[in-house]
Amino acid sequence: MGNDEPGGGEGESENARWCIDEDAKRRATDEQEIERLVRAFYVKVRSDAVLGPIFDGVIGEDWEPHLKKMFDFWSSVMLTTGRYKGQPMRAHLKLKEVSPSHFDRWLTLFRETADEICAPEVADLFTEKAARIAESLQLGMFFEPALHDPERQRR
Ligand code: HEM
Repeated sequence: MGNDEPGGGEGESENARWCIDEDAKRRATDEQEIERLVRAFYVKVRSDAVLGPIFDGVIGEDWEPHLKKMFDFWSSVMLTTGRYKGQPMRAHLKLKEVSPSHFDRWLTLFRETADEICAPEVADLFTEKAARIAESLQLGMFFEPALHDPERQRR
């Protein structure tokens, strides 16, 4: 068996194999692609009948500071540069009019943009990350422990 086969070594754990795969995919994007993706995504968001007004209401006319923050965010997520220093949960908890269906729309537009800008496996990676982060934001924003309390459901 050739030694250069990734993950092919005897006794190699599933976890190590996953890491090699993940690193290879991570290098498949770069800062330029992130910037193109973020800009194209927020063009769609701004012209979306449902999401547009929510963002415009908070961000106003000058989108550059938000876009720069999002370049840093995605650079941290995809290239582990650590450039983003913000608190996404806190920013989203302030958005009282946002509901889970808005997240579905957000993810649809994000998937659409990633498919237009990136190679298929890179688009998948961006979308998987976005979906996981969306899930955790939604847990913070909408999860009501009382609804899932078995004591209450028996009553
Ligand atoms: C319904 C879906 C979403 C809506 C309506 C939404 C809306 C917004 C708005 C209006 C801001 C600006 C907040 C401010 O400047 O005070 C913001 C910031 C941000 N959003 Fe979202 N967002 C959504 C989903 C997501 C998802 C899924 C992600 C990540 C994958 C994300 C990542 C961020 C980040 C990193 C910031 C910057 C926070 C900061 O440091 O100030 N958002 N979002």
